[in-house]
Amino acid sequence: MPGNTFGTIFKITTWGESHGKGVGVVIDGCPPQMPLTQTMIQAMLDRRKPGGSSASTTRKEPDQAVIMSGVFENMTTGTPIMIMVENRDAESKAYSSYATLYRPGHGDISYMAKYGIRDWRGGGRASARETVARVAAGAVARAILEQHGISVVAYTLELGGIRAVNHDLSVIDQNMFLCPDSNAAEKMALRVETVKNQGDSLGGIVEIVASGVPAGLGNPVFDKLDAELAKAVMSIGTVKGVEIGAGFEAARMLGSQNNDPITPEGFLSNNAGGILAGISNGDKIIVRAAVKPIPSIAIEQKTVNIEGKQETISVKGRHDISAIPRINVVCETMVCLVLVDQLLQQKAMKNA
Ligand SMILES: Cc1cc2nc3c(=O)[nH]c(=O)nc-3n(C[C@H](O)[C@H](O)[C@H](O)COP(=O)(O)O)c2cc1C
Repeated sequence: MPGNTFGTIFKITTWGESHGKGVGVVIDGCPPQMPLTQTMIQAMLDRRKPGGSSASTTRKEPDQAVIMSGVFENMTTGTPIMIMVENRDAESKAYSSYATLYRPGHGDISYMAKYGIRDWRGGGRASARETVARVAAGAVARAILEQHGISVVAYTLELGGIRAVNHDLSVIDQNMFLCPDSNAAEKMALRVETVKNQGDSLGGIVEIVASGVPAGLGNPVFDKLDAELAKAVMSIGTVKGVEIGAGFEAARMLGSQNNDPITPEGFLSNNAGGILAGISNGDKIIVRAAVKPIPSIAIEQKTVNIEGKQETISVKGRHDISAIPRINVVCETMVCLVLVDQLLQQKAMKNA
C-alpha cells in the first residue's frame, strides 16, 4: 500500500502499529562509510519519549533502538539500514471499550472508511507511536547534515494560546515545554494543569529553524523546497497548518515590507524563510507547524458506533494533553529528512 515511504534518494519506509510487536524503519540510499551507532539513534529517541513534561502521556516505553542491518563496525555500508523498536508498555485492554466507537478527531472513522478494518488498539497505524520510526531515521539524516555543517532545531512558539515573547534558544532545554521563553513556559505549565483537570487537551505552534543550509537546494515547480517541507511536516499527526518564513503574515504585508533586501553581505531580513522560487537562498530556513489539540479527551462528546448509531464517548487512559513538546523532535526529523534528500539530489545532479 502506498503512503508509508518518504524521500527520493534518502528513502525511508516506516512500519508498525501502536500495540503491535514493535515499530521500525528501513532506510535505503544512505551513503556508505558514515559513522552510525545505536547510541546516536537512542539520543534522538529519548527526546521523543513521554515523561518529559506534564502535557505528556504516562505510557512508559524504553524505546530501545536496535540496528538490524546496514551497519558494520559502527559504519554504514550503503545497504538498507533497518532499525527496530519493540513496543513494551501497550495497554490494549484500555482501548477495548472504544473498539466499536469512533473517537472524534482521530483516524478511527476514516481508516474504517478506507480499509473496512482497523487495529483499534492504541490508534493502530494512525498512532503517534509510528513517529518513533521516523525519529530513528531522522537521527541518521541529522548525522549526515551535521557533516555538512547543517543544524536543525525545533522549539515551542505557542502552547494553549500562550506565545513565547522572548526567543532565547539557550533556555529551550531548561523548561519542560522546550520553549525559548522561560516566563511563557511557566504560564504554559499552569494552562496545561487547568486543561488537564478539565479532561480537555491543547494545541500550539512549533517553529523549526535549519541553519547552514547552502543556497541551491530544491527543485522547480512541483517539487519546490517549500512544498516538500510542507508535505513532510504536514505528514505528522495533529499538524494542520505549515508556514514558511512570514507565512500567513505575508498576506497582510506590502511588497516593500515583505521583500528581503539584498546586500553583498546577504539578506537584510528573512521573510522568505530561506527559500525563493522553491530553492534555498542560503539564509536560515524557517518553518512553523500549527498543532491541533489531542483528539482523545475525557470530556463527553457525541459520536457513532461502527453501525452508525448515535452514542457518546469519553476517552479515558494514558493520552497526551498536547502533542507539544513530544512532537518537536518529530518536526526536526521531517525537516532533516527533506534536507538530506535534497542535499543528496544536488550532489547527484552535480556529479551527473
Ligand atoms: C507526538 C504526538 C503525540 C500524540 N499523542 C496522542 C495521544 O496521546 N492520543 C491521541 O488520541 N492522539 C495523539 N496524537 C494525535 C494523533 O496521532 C492524530 O491526531 C491522529 O492520528 C489523527 O490525525 P490528524 O490529527 O493528522 O488528523 C499524537 C500525535 C503526536 C504527533
